[in-house]
Amino acid sequence: MLKERVFADRVLEVKPSATFKYDAAAKKPGVINLTIGRPDFDTPQIIKDAAKKALDEGRVHYTPSKGIPELRKAIAEKLETENNITDLDGDKILVSGGGKQILYCIVMALAGKGDVVAIQNPAWVSYEAQIKLANAEVEWLTLKPEEGFIPGEDFFRELEETNAKLLILNSPGNPTGAVFHERIIKKIMDVCIEKDMFVISDEVYEKLIYEGKHYSPANEYENVITVNAFSKTYSMTGWTSYISSLSPAVHLSHNTVH
Ligand SMILES: Cc1ncc(COP(=O)(O)O)c(C=O)c1O
Repeated sequence: MLKERVFADRVLEVKPSATFKYDAAAKKPGVINLTIGRPDFDTPQIIKDAAKKALDEGRVHYTPSKGIPELRKAIAEKLETENNITDLDGDKILVSGGGKQILYCIVMALAGKGDVVAIQNPAWVSYEAQIKLANAEVEWLTLKPEEGFIPGEDFFRELEETNAKLLILNSPGNPTGAVFHERIIKKIMDVCIEKDMFVISDEVYEKLIYEGKHYSPANEYENVITVNAFSKTYSMTGWTSYISSLSPAVHLSHNTVH
């Protein structure tokens, strides 16, 4: 066990993920576990086969640091056809070891000491930890259960008043499942433009929608980075961890198979 003094102060400020705490607590007979965002189906066979084939073909070495070009091109095409994000090519895409990792990299790149980052409340637990690790401050924007956790008057007032330089927008949202209507997202983006705020749009749940329609703000706005992931859509939530536990060498180049 490492002594506390080994850690940097900013790390000591971060609490353990509540998701894992409640996941452990919910593992009891008769309890429906809605804690971890883990799809209840297996990774599609076509993906497993492609991963096995890639490993067998020896595709285990370093890739370009932005990810393999064919994958970046395919992601750009997906975003263009499915999310109506135009003017994209592989060069504007970055492949990482998962949504959480790239969100952390983006927060570290854009926020620092003295900066404020606005997030919706309630929000996925890791945003707060990542913002604190960047030595920045969190400002919460209120979502109300009686409004279906869709931004309402309080949210917009707080957004208008904030000094944040960055907003992390999450629709479909974790933990609420709320899908913000295109009209609401545009209203948020218009305020952000007016206030010169940059937006990270976390869209990892875009395919897990029961009602409503997903809208990607990068469709019309330029002050936004879109974050998406294979983890939820293709039920690959354990891939990074399993692969990295096999061998550090595979971990380093794992975006070849992710
Ligand atoms: C809202 C949200 N964004 C991002 C992530 C991270 O996704 P990944 O598993 O690809 O790291 C999660 C994971 O639970 C999440 O709930």
